Amino acid sequence: MKIDGIYVEYGDEKVLTDISFDIKRGEFISIMGPSGVGKTTLLRTLAGLENITQGYIYKEVKKGKEITLKTSFVPQNPTLLPWRNVLRNVLVGSQASKINMETRMHEANEKIKAVGLSGAEMKFPKELSGGMQQRVAIARALAANPEIILMDEPFSALDNHLRENLTDLVATLAKDKNLTIILNTHSIEEAIKVSSEIIILAKKDGRSILQKFELDAQNKHGSEYFKTKLEVTDAIKNAGMEH
Ligand SMILES: Nc1ncnc2c1ncn2[C@@H]1O[C@H](COP(=O)(O)OP(=O)(O)OP(=O)(O)O)[C@@H](O)[C@H]1O
Ligand SMILES: [Mg+2]
Repeated sequence: MKIDGIYVEYGDEKVLTDISFDIKRGEFISIMGPSGVGKTTLLRTLAGLENITQGYIYKEVKKGKEITLKTSFVPQNPTLLPWRNVLRNVLVGSQASKINMETRMHEANEKIKAVGLSGAEMKFPKELSGGMQQRVAIARALAANPEIILMDEPFSALDNHLRENLTDLVATLAKDKNLTIILNTHSIEEAIKVSSEIIILAKKDGRSILQKFELDAQNKHGSEYFKTKLEVTDAIKNAGMEH
């Protein structure tokens, strides 16, 4: 996928200007930056939920034809349907697909197992903790069999330990299925640990500025880790984010 010079505006406000970057299949990209800089807008744009006023998003090309990649969006709050149990909430993820109910049920149960919620299939959202509800939201996103999962600070309401576990879980599931993940997060440690690239979004004089950090296994350990962390922390500070 190639994002090529896109602009997104709300009325007179240019929220995103001239944004370009590439997303390779299987990458885990974290997007960071100050509040109001346009991170949610960028994710929503990638999900096809916002109008682009200039520029273009090139989807994947197969056999000379542009194909639309299936995306799932995990919002900041789990937005489960309170009158549906866990299983039926997860089934929402695949309701637009043409596969038969038996297969959908089988796959929904598989996803519930993958997020560690076996046994809770018949529970209702109000009977679940916040972390469990977010896991249902992840299972629902996976049930759509997406190629790309866009996650907007999905775990920010949870405590650090739980958030780390869930981020690791998503990273592992993504690796297994070669899914592309784009995550908005405020946690530098989390971003370095799981990402293949961190993109810091800033704004100067009304124009968007992107800074990209490509990460490999080396950047995540020992003294290299601390060097990476320092560089990312500095870049975020310069972008105006408070920590
Ligand atoms: N639907 C909308 N209509 C008008 N303006 C909007 C709309 N959504 C967002 N904006 C504006 O676009 C800008 C970017 O908002 P966005 O939600 O993308 O920021 P963000 O980087 O995700 O911030 P945060 O870290 O607080 O979530 C803000 O100035 C906001 O006021
Ligand atoms: Mg946001």
